[in-house]
Amino acid sequence: MKSLIFFLLQLLAILLPCIANNSTRVVYDTEGNELNSMQNYYILPAKSVSGGGLRAMPTGLRCLHFVFQERNGSLLGTTLRFTPLPRKASSTEAIRLSSDIWIEFHDFYSFCSDRLDWHLTERIPESFSGRLQHVAAGNEDGVRSFGVFRVERHGTDVMGYKIVSCVDQGPCKNIGLHVDKDKTWLTVSDEPFMVVFRKE
Ligand SMILES: *[C@@H]1O[C@H](CO)[C@@H](O)[C@H](O)[C@H]1NC(C)=O
Ligand SMILES: *[C@@H]1O[C@H](CO)[C@@H](O)[C@H](O)[C@H]1NC(C)=O
Ligand SMILES: *[C@@H]1O[C@H](CO)[C@@H](O)[C@H](O)[C@H]1NC(C)=O
Repeated sequence: MKSLIFFLLQLLAILLPCIANNSTRVVYDTEGNELNSMQNYYILPAKSVSGGGLRAMPTGLRCLHFVFQERNGSLLGTTLRFTPLPRKASSTEAIRLSSDIWIEFHDFYSFCSDRLDWHLTERIPESFSGRLQHVAAGNEDGVRSFGVFRVERHGTDVMGYKIVSCVDQGPCKNIGLHVDKDKTWLTVSDEPFMVVFRKE
């Protein structure tokens, strides 16, 4: 009995730091403050020489948009909000690394909605030459469609974070940029788009 308790204590001693470690790994904004669920942020490239913020472009289908990056580095794009999952009733929560979240354009002024939920879509922009999964924002087939995303560190990169899409227990896929003619789309990609979060 004694040895069992000893064993359990040892196990706890091994497990505790891991759990504690995880729960303290939050995402920080460009001012060094914890990202939270009640604040609007711009998603900007970690390297400021590589374009501006993110915006939504109408697909032509009612209320569905594709997400693209501004080419002009001085344009911040549209603000976003992050919701940790499982969703809790209107409390301010920190956004943690490697944890499931929803991402939405927030305070987006259109006739559709003031919030556009991010998800992956099989649809492609009209002019697009390829078959990549794009990041869409807004209603797919008339219903709100939240995709599950996570914010992660990337390798030994200390500058910025990557965003990954995690669907159906499968491996998470990097969200990256795909330049096609005159637009830079957000798509599933081998090469992640390294970003920072700037408070509105
Ligand atoms: C804590 O997190 C860091 C950063 O990801 C990782 O390198 C380290 O192995 C973790 N430690 C434990 C005890 O899980
Ligand atoms: C801790 O983090 C790792 C890697 O980021 C993840 O796979 C694991 O599920 C996390 N554990 C807990 C208890 O959150
Ligand atoms: C980028 O945007 C700023 C602010 O709107 C504008 O003043 C500037 O001319 C733009 N630059 C280019 C290259 O379009």
